[in-house]
This record gives sequence, C-alpha cells and structure tokens, in this order.
Amino acid sequence: MSEARTHNVLILPGDGIGTEIVAEAERVLLAVAEKYDISLQLSHALVGGSAIDATGSPLPEETLTQAKAADAILLGAVGGHKWDGLEMAKRPEKGLLGLRSNLELFANLRPAILFPQLASASTLKPEVVSGLDLLIVRELTGGIYFGQPRGERINDQGEREGFNTYIYNETEIRRIGRAAFEAARKRNKRLCSVDKANVLEVTVLWRNIMNELANEYPDVELSHMYVDNAAMQLVRAPKQFDVMVTGNMFGDILSDCAAMLTGSIGMLPSASLNAAGKGMYEPIHGSAPDIAGKGIANPLATIMSVAMMLRYSLNESAAADAIEAAVSKVLDQGYRTADIVAEGDQSVSTREMGDAVVAAL
Ligand code: IPM
Ligand code: MG
Repeated sequence: MSEARTHNVLILPGDGIGTEIVAEAERVLLAVAEKYDISLQLSHALVGGSAIDATGSPLPEETLTQAKAADAILLGAVGGHKWDGLEMAKRPEKGLLGLRSNLELFANLRPAILFPQLASASTLKPEVVSGLDLLIVRELTGGIYFGQPRGERINDQGEREGFNTYIYNETEIRRIGRAAFEAARKRNKRLCSVDKANVLEVTVLWRNIMNELANEYPDVELSHMYVDNAAMQLVRAPKQFDVMVTGNMFGDILSDCAAMLTGSIGMLPSASLNAAGKGMYEPIHGSAPDIAGKGIANPLATIMSVAMMLRYSLNESAAADAIEAAVSKVLDQGYRTADIVAEGDQSVSTREMGDAVVAAL
C-alpha cells in the first residue's frame, strides 16, 4: 500500500552522461508513480561542474537547501575534463562529497547482482559469476576522503609533499558496522569486514569494533579479510561473499571491481543513507566524459537506483519490485546498450533503453 502523501524528490543530473541517464530514470519514476498511484513532487537543481559553470560553486547553497528539504535525492554523476584543472576544493567531485557529508549519508549500499541474462557479458567465466548477489556496505562520510589535515606542503628538504589523513573514530565505525550487520541479517547472515589491520592502526580499531558488535548480532557470521586479499577473492570466487563492510576508500575501489563482475559498471545502483533512512541514490559509475552526449550510456544503474529509492526512502516496495522486474524483462527481450552488448542482442541507445523499461512497466 502506498502512503497517501506526496514524496518530495530532488533530481540532480550533474555532468556528462549524468543528464542523459537521469532523464531516462526520471521517465521511469514518473511511469511507475502513475501506475502505483504515488504522489510525487519533483524538483531539479545543479551540482558538480554544471553548478560551477552557473554559480562558481560545485554545491550551491540553494542545492544544499533543496537537498535537505527533500525526502530523497536522485543523482546522475559529476565531473569532466573541463574542470580537471581546478584545485581540489573547487572540483565537481566536491559537490558530491559535500552532499554526502552535509546530509550525513554515511551508509552507502552497493549491491552487485548478476542478471542471468548478462552472464556472458562479464569478463569472468559464467560459472564464476552466475548467481552472484553481494552487497558492499561502504562507509561514505569519513576515512581518508575527509580526514584532516590534508593538503600539499613544502617539507624540511624543500620538496613538495602531499598528505592525507586516514582517520575513523569509534562512533563512525560502530554506526556503519551496525548498518552492515542489519543488512546481513536481512540477507544470508554472513558479513565480511575488509581492512588492512596488518598495517594500519585505524583499521585495527575498525576490526576490534566489528568484533565487539558481533556480540550483538549472534545470528550473523562475521569474518575479516585484508583488502588486498578481498580484491583478489572478488575476481577469484565472488560468490563466497554475502555482505562486505569497509571504509570509504577501500569501498570505492572494491565496488568498481564488483561492478565488473556483473558485466558492466553501467549496471550498479547505490543508496547512500543517513541515520533516519533519508537517502541519495546514484549509479556507482562516473560521468564518463568520453561517451557523454552520444546517447549510448547505459541508464539501467540509474533506473535501478530509482528502485532503491522507492524501497529505502519512500516506502514504496511494490513500485521498486516493478522497476526491477521491468529491467529484467528488457534484458530478456535482448535489449542492450553498448557496454553490455553481445552477438545476437539488440543494440539500443540510452533513450531506447529508457523507452523499453517504461514499456515493460
Ligand atoms: C563513487 C565515485 C566518487 C567517489 C567520486 C566521483 C568522488 O567514484 O561514488 O564511487 O570516489 O566516492
Ligand atoms: Mg567510485
């Protein structure tokens, strides 16, 4: 049953292919809303490079205000060569990072699920990836991405040096740990915590806190793995994993790796949630400047991000299921964007893929 209230959704297309894929996701959202009688109020705002061009800031005050007021946010991607030369604090990526930290979206859920129809699209052997269904829980508002001090300086030898700080306090570790244990509880009850506790003190603390939390979740089986081994195991035998939990940077890297197991990075949605379940939803891929404007990007990761939004923030799980079923159906029908196309498939544009999903709904 859908709630009889209007959901206020902010749409942030961003840069590059962001605008193309979000346009399709928005059409799918409107179609499913009509079908399930969901009342929506959509608004749009700028973030990233397009916001820099228009206002000088990657995260204009107005965008942040709208984001805070929204029930949920759908984001495309940010960044592009045009802004590559800017100093770190003014880059498009700061818009995305600023949203994550200002809204305290610390829990990033990145499911990697292989659609059986795409088993041959993966660069790995079908038997290694078929049936793959894992969830990466990435800490998103701390760690080396945000640690202070950071910057570039001249050292005592008169040489330039760059530095960042890898830091987590126990509150940050505990809250992402809890989110991961809770997620594991709803799945196959196995949680693998990924760290580098053989080298980095911050991840020794991480490991100790995960072990403490395990006492509160006796029904979940906790294991630990070093990040180098985890990267190897993801390509060697990915089906051993149910839920993985890790810090911001390791999660960034491992989730790109996991994405390729599913055939294409264009297939992975994500949810970034705060303590109250409010969320921002985005594909895990970037703005892909090399293919931007060509109409060939895969919109499915963004479309499936809409499904996650309906499920996690808007409490409309029937509509979420319908979108996922529609995606599976268009894959059954043989529709493929360039990133997942194989012989015998029907190669379609971004727009045609959106059309197909809307039709399947
Ligand atoms: C991601 C992206 C971002 C990140 C970039 C665009 C800042 O790679 O969402 O994985 O590093 O978190
Ligand atoms: Mg990334």
